[in-house]
Amino acid sequence: MAAEGARETRLAVALLAWYDRHARDLPWRVGPAARAGGERPDPYRVWLSEVMLQQTTVATVRGRYAAFLARWPRVEALAAAPDADIMAAWAGLGYYARARNLIACARAVARDHAGRFPDSEEGLRGLPGIGAYTAAAIAAIAFDRPATVVDGNVERVMARLHAVEAPLPEAKPLLTGLAARLTPMARSGDYAQAVMDLGATICTPRAPACGLCPWRADCAARRAGIAETLPRRSEKAAKPVRRGIAWLALRHDGAVLVETRAPSGLLGGMLALPSGPWAEGAPEGDPPLAAEWRDLGVEVRHTFTHFHLRLTLAGARVAAGPGDFRPAAEAGPAMPTLMRKALRLGLAAMDAGGDAG
Ligand code: ADE
Repeated sequence: MAAEGARETRLAVALLAWYDRHARDLPWRVGPAARAGGERPDPYRVWLSEVMLQQTTVATVRGRYAAFLARWPRVEALAAAPDADIMAAWAGLGYYARARNLIACARAVARDHAGRFPDSEEGLRGLPGIGAYTAAAIAAIAFDRPATVVDGNVERVMARLHAVEAPLPEAKPLLTGLAARLTPMARSGDYAQAVMDLGATICTPRAPACGLCPWRADCAARRAGIAETLPRRSEKAAKPVRRGIAWLALRHDGAVLVETRAPSGLLGGMLALPSGPWAEGAPEGDPPLAAEWRDLGVEVRHTFTHFHLRLTLAGARVAAGPGDFRPAAEAGPAMPTLMRKALRLGLAAMDAGGDAG
């Protein structure tokens, strides 16, 4: 669906005029002036940035995006890279299913689509890891399709513009419908990025800069004095706490025992310290090898989408043995944040415990 009436058209025009002046300069973006001059965004770059930007801030993505692109400038290069290299390059960005899907998607595009991303929402939806949001974002930004892109920023802007007091997530279909009515047929890619920029820079969660907003005269929440309280959210159930043990086996040469986690599931495909199951109740599990294990007195806490994790650490000095031993300085950077922290704190505890040497 796309902009239907005079009011919708007027709002889209006002927002695009604002975007022409205030678009953020982002490394993956073809800005409005270049776009008007005929420059087209590279769909690979749009896809890569949109996958990275899910659940991750623009500030974090900036540096990582540049490194990814320098190493894998085209989808064929990414498709040909070993899984372990890509997972290691993703380490620290979180939500590792995204990286596994990134690999699968790159290979599908290279193999089944001759290296070209489909140019419609429907075609894009057929690719691994591309859901409604990402398909709409790529269709709009890379191919100027009038697709409606709805992320958290857009939800907030729509909730305020229309003073929607129904809470999220229940209100999502309503907000999506409102966003669709505003989406213009022309400059759809610029428009999609403009609403996101408006949400990120003006219509911010706290202390929105309403005085600078191109939509201020039409904003129902501003008129009612409730802009900052929207969108409302349903109370979330408290997250359960799960516990687990991670095993730090340190060899005399400073190498540590690591494992590559099973491809599906939490931190799937990532390099990690071996660990037992993560479950509610007392931590349990068998060590990966026989040694004199001791409790290192370290607990690492990490919050996942659906639970809090408390990981205790057991450490042991071991002689050369079977398993994937790697220098700590090499393994750490390839691990997710939680495991990197466990490794660092565990090594410090082993040093402090007179275990060194
Ligand atoms: N957040 C996610 N994708 C974005 C984009 N293309 N522009 C601005 N902010 C974004």
